[in-house]
Amino acid sequence: VNLKPFNTLNISARARYFASIENTDQLKKILNHPGSFGLSIRIIGGGSNILFADDYDGLVLHIDIKGREVIDETEEHVWLKVGAGENWHQTVRYCIDKGWGGIENLSLIPGTVGAAPIQNIGAYGVELAEVFEWLEGMDIEGRATRRYEREFCEFGYRDSIFKGELKGIVIVTQVVLKLSKDPELNTSYGSIQSELKDRGITDPTIEDISDIIIDIRNSKLPDPNTLGNAGSFFKNPIVDEARYQKITEQYPDAPGYPMEDGKVKVPAGWLIEEAGWKGKVVGNTGTYKQQALVIVNHGGATGDEILQLADDIQQSVEDLFGIALVPEVNIIN
Ligand code: EPU
Repeated sequence: VNLKPFNTLNISARARYFASIENTDQLKKILNHPGSFGLSIRIIGGGSNILFADDYDGLVLHIDIKGREVIDETEEHVWLKVGAGENWHQTVRYCIDKGWGGIENLSLIPGTVGAAPIQNIGAYGVELAEVFEWLEGMDIEGRATRRYEREFCEFGYRDSIFKGELKGIVIVTQVVLKLSKDPELNTSYGSIQSELKDRGITDPTIEDISDIIIDIRNSKLPDPNTLGNAGSFFKNPIVDEARYQKITEQYPDAPGYPMEDGKVKVPAGWLIEEAGWKGKVVGNTGTYKQQALVIVNHGGATGDEILQLADDIQQSVEDLFGIALVPEVNIIN
């Protein structure tokens, strides 16, 4: 099977075996099927955070479990259980229509609900961890599903236990979010405040916030349907203060966000731009002209080409700043 329709970088890689999964029973059956024994298995959702560097000599399972259901409710909150295969952004808009707040800042993030907890998606001052209650996951051996509560998940910046110790071991089937009927808005990030002002909005709703974030994202990030990409390719590095000081000696305007432990998070997009890569086209690949942190496929790029560009970018950022960028996308080779 050609995986091109299943990854937003639009890479033509082949999987030896492929199946779409619509419910837990199917998942259990396929994992317990003798034909699956001994195969390496990869799970994909929306394919929006994945780079197939090569053909995949194993079984790719596309999780397509649907459904949204309120499983509990109080005066202030609702607990919404969502199938892992539901589209993330559609789920955000569904909640907004119902008046349930908490994920409006995460509007327009590509991918599925099941993928969201794996890397603890975050944007515009909000992270999934803030609304996450628990998930249901099946072990890769196909024995049973169980619940994983928030405390168990070890959420961090673009990180969770499912990227660490439990990598490749748990298949997310359902996610439960705790949303607020009387939402507190988060307007702290970047240009949200000024956008509200420009639009003359003094008493914003969750829909206003969502609409603004959709506009900001559309202006900075390429639409994967028109230009293949996987969002931020690298994580924003967190460096110690001495390193940051050193950078500001040479670049007084270097952006940096202080962390609680005294370290500083530096936007990788800025480092990459300073290293001269912004909007550069290299063969069929390159970085996006509005946001250097996004690697794009201009058409026909292979996984190898993307990986080569990523390596070259890492090398020059290392040479210039002494900072080793770590990929944020999952590289499969
Ligand atoms: N910048 C540059 N040049 C660039 C890009 C960015 O100088 O080409 C600098 C600017 O100073 C800008 C700052 O970087 O003010 C921050 O840029 P931006 O607001 O676009 O955010 P980011 O740090 O590049 C992160 C997330 C995004 C998320 C945005 C908004 C990571 C790795 N990326 O990007 O997430 O949408 O913040 O919250 O944390 C993703 O994970 O795929 C993703 C797109």
